[in-house]
Amino acid sequence: MKPLILLLIIFSSFPTIIHCRNGVPFDYLMFTTIYPTAVCRADDDSVPESCEIPDGTPKWSIHGLWPNYENGSYPQNCHGTPKHFEEDLIKSIEERLVTVWPNLYPKKTIQSFWKHEYDKHGTCAQSEKLFESELAYFTEVMKVFDSIDVAGGMSSVGPSEKPIGAKDIQNALAGVTGGKKFEFNCLRDKKTKQFLLGDIRLCLNKDLTLRDCPGHHHDDSHLNRVSRFERSTRKGPPLPSFQVSVFSGLP
Ligand SMILES: *[C@@H]1O[C@H](CO)[C@@H](O)[C@H](O)[C@H]1NC(C)=O
Repeated sequence: MKPLILLLIIFSSFPTIIHCRNGVPFDYLMFTTIYPTAVCRADDDSVPESCEIPDGTPKWSIHGLWPNYENGSYPQNCHGTPKHFEEDLIKSIEERLVTVWPNLYPKKTIQSFWKHEYDKHGTCAQSEKLFESELAYFTEVMKVFDSIDVAGGMSSVGPSEKPIGAKDIQNALAGVTGGKKFEFNCLRDKKTKQFLLGDIRLCLNKDLTLRDCPGHHHDDSHLNRVSRFERSTRKGPPLPSFQVSVFSGLP
């Protein structure tokens, strides 16, 4: 009899024992804002309806907020609640999300971009109280977007037909980022072959204060950014264009 009782006790407490925590510990967050004009110019427009900027889209829109590790890698598709994006949970903020976090690919649903971002990155952020639910995650990403005026900063350098360099971007955003190190990616315009500024990536502490983005290579961080861009154009979907920020201005 005794062994049986013991077994029952073990089984009855099992669910609490194996309860998984949501998300994973991470080091910092990366907020990426895209320039939809560049994204669509880099897109293959021989395909009809391949990339379109919806009416009302801000000059710089949201790509995502990603938990990252200091070593340059990042967690993805973590255990979360829910594990997969559920539109019902964000209904209360959806109207605003549609504008500031648009999907530029009309063949996909508006929600498909949010689903991708939540499933891949949002679930991993749930280890932090600030992001413990799907609604909280989307709400906080919009708060970050609202608190960092990339569009305002960048309006001092473009859009312009004049090439701009890394230094110009740094100067334009110095006030917005408080001088913190950030990253950016460029895209190639399919027609003109120009390099366009596609996105800007800012790094944040887990309490959403700005911090330096970690440099993963030596001190030639500018060259580094160029090669990052080349890597990112070879694989994966196109990212976002600042009309003509060509690299000729690079130091
Ligand atoms: C980076 O750090 C994380 C967390 O410490 C670790 O899980 C991961 O394996 C590391 N990745 C690499 C490529 O070193």
